Amino acid sequence: MMRRRKPRVATKASPSEKGADSVFCGEFIANVIIQGNGERSSPAFSAQRRSGRPSVRAETRAPHLGAYFSAHARARIAAMPTPLPGSIPGFLYGTAWKEERTPVLVELALRAGFRGIDTANQRRHYFEEGVGQGLAAAYRAGIVTREDLFLQTKFTYRPGQDHRLPYDPAARLSAQVAQSMASSLEHLGTNHVDSYVLHGPSSGYDWTDADAEVWEAMTKERDGGRTRLLGVSNVALRHLEQMAAAHSEIPAFVQNRCYARLGWDRNVRLFCRQRKIVYQGFSLLTANVEVLRHPVVSGVAACESATPAQIIFAFARAVGMLPLTGTSNPEHMKQDLASSALSLSSEAVETIESLAG
Ligand SMILES: NC(=O)c1ccc[n+]([C@@H]2O[C@H](COP(=O)([O-])OP(=O)(O)OC[C@H]3O[C@@H](n4cnc5c(N)ncnc54)[C@H](OP(=O)(O)O)[C@@H]3O)[C@@H](O)[C@H]2O)c1
Repeated sequence: MMRRRKPRVATKASPSEKGADSVFCGEFIANVIIQGNGERSSPAFSAQRRSGRPSVRAETRAPHLGAYFSAHARARIAAMPTPLPGSIPGFLYGTAWKEERTPVLVELALRAGFRGIDTANQRRHYFEEGVGQGLAAAYRAGIVTREDLFLQTKFTYRPGQDHRLPYDPAARLSAQVAQSMASSLEHLGTNHVDSYVLHGPSSGYDWTDADAEVWEAMTKERDGGRTRLLGVSNVALRHLEQMAAAHSEIPAFVQNRCYARLGWDRNVRLFCRQRKIVYQGFSLLTANVEVLRHPVVSGVAACESATPAQIIFAFARAVGMLPLTGTSNPEHMKQDLASSALSLSSEAVETIESLAG
C-alpha cells in the first residue's frame, strides 16, 4: 500500500509551487482511491473499517468500489466534452425560490459577473417579473446591456403551476405557449429571449402528443424571432429518443437535475454529447451533498486552494456541462464564477465522475 502524505491546504501559490501541488494532488487522489486490492477507498473509510462503526456514507458507496477500474469507467472520460457555442455564457444564474429578493439578487449576480440568467414563467417557484426588475436596474446602473446577456425562460404546463397562470388554461396548448411567451417577454422587458425551454414533459415516461404540440408551438416562437434557441428540461433518455424520432428538430439545450448517484445523468449526457446538445446541470450541489463531503473532493479542493463547491462546478464544466447555481450569497456568487478558472487534472475528473454511480 502506498504511504499517504498529510494533505496541506495550498494558499496563494507561486507557479512553481502550483506545479508541485499538482503532482501532490495526483498523488493524493491515487492514495485516496487505491488501497489494497484495487479497492477504491479513502482514509476516512479505512478508519471506519478499523473502528467497526457502520457509516451511511460507507454503506452507500461500498457497492460501487469495484467500478472505478472498469474499462467502462475509463471510456467515459475518454470522450471530449462539447464546447459551448460562443454566445452562451459558461455559467447560468438560477432565479428560482427567491421571491421578493429576486430583483436585488439578479442585479447582484450581474454585478458579480454572471451573464446568463435562468427563469421560468411559473409564479409558483419563480418571480419572473422580479427578474425583469433586476435586469432593468442593472441596465439603468450601466452594469450590462441586453446584448450582453443570455436570458432563458420556460413554458410550464398547468399541473406545474399554481393559480397565477400566464395563459388561459382553457386555450389550446399551442395558444398557451404563445401567451406564456408574450407574458415572459413583458416580464423581462425584452422582445426576445435567448433560450425557451419546455419545463418538463407532460408524462414522466413518454414524449406525448401534448409535448409534440407544445414543441411545435415553441419552434413557431423561435421562427417568429421571440427566442433564439429551444430546450427541454426534466427529461429522461426515453423522452429524448422519442422526441428525436417524432420531430425534425432536436433541442439546443437539455436542463436536468444532475445526480452523482446516476453517474451524473450519464445516459442523457451521452445522448446530448452525440448530438451536440448543451447539457445544463442544476442542483449540482444540493443533489450531491455526499459527494461534496467526499475526501477526494475535499482533497482536490485543498490542492487547488478552492472550495468543494468550486471543484464540483469545475468538474461539471470539465465533463461538458453548462452549470447553474442558485446562490443567494454574494461571496458564493464570486466563488462560483471563479471556478471557471480551475482546470482539474483528467485523473481528478475521472475519479469524481466515478465517485457515486
Ligand atoms: N428545470 C427545473 O425544473 C429546475 C429545477 C430546479 C432548479 N432549476 C434552476 O436551477 C437553478 C439553480 O438551482 P439549484 O438547485 O442548482 O440551486 P439552489 O437550489 O438554488 O441552491 C444552490 C445551493 O447551493 C449553495 N451554494 C451555491 N454556491 C455555493 C458555494 N460556492 N459554496 C457553498 N454553497 C453554495 C447555495 O447556498 P447559498 O445561497 O448560501 O450560497 C444553495 O443552498 C434554479 O434557481 C433554477 O433557475 C431548474
